[in-house]
Amino acid sequence: MCACAGDSEGMIGKASAHGLSLENRRSFLGALLGVGSVFVGGLLSVPLIRFALFPLLRRTTELKSSSVGALTEFSSLTEPVMRTIQIEQIDGWRKAISEKAVYITKDPQGQLHVLTSVCPHLGCTVPWNKEKNQFMCPCHGATFTPDGARISGPSQRGMDTLETSVRDGQLLVRFQYFRQLVSDKEVIG
Ligand code: FES
Repeated sequence: MCACAGDSEGMIGKASAHGLSLENRRSFLGALLGVGSVFVGGLLSVPLIRFALFPLLRRTTELKSSSVGALTEFSSLTEPVMRTIQIEQIDGWRKAISEKAVYITKDPQGQLHVLTSVCPHLGCTVPWNKEKNQFMCPCHGATFTPDGARISGPSQRGMDTLETSVRDGQLLVRFQYFRQLVSDKEVIG
């Protein structure tokens, strides 16, 4: 009778040990499956995440060239002439259109240049003064020659030239913003 009791205890012990190891194996396999699923899911989602974030990850501001006018319009230029250009600005998925004033000038060699009207001192719009034959900023009195070189006033540099190109007889300009209050021209956007 005692031997039977011992046998049954031994069997119960074996059965519970077997049950435990089975449970351990099951939970190990479950954990392995979970880790595998997370890994594969992560790998598959990388292209989707990159696609969704593309507008944020690429350059935040992209400016396209704008037309200033036909080259023939400026063939007999004797003083700076102002034009308003439309700027298409792309920030991620967002597209914005704004207007900016620029000046077209001609140097002694007959080469056309386009100047931004934004004062390099503190950003006021600089008007052309025909009588004085110079640009005169109304805010703090900076003055510039017809080709934008600094004459006097608080600005530490001349007016900023913009990148130009010619396509189908049209003069194109790429508008940019430059750092103010510094002597060197530095693009900020
Ligand atoms: S903003 Fe033009 S001189 Fe100050």
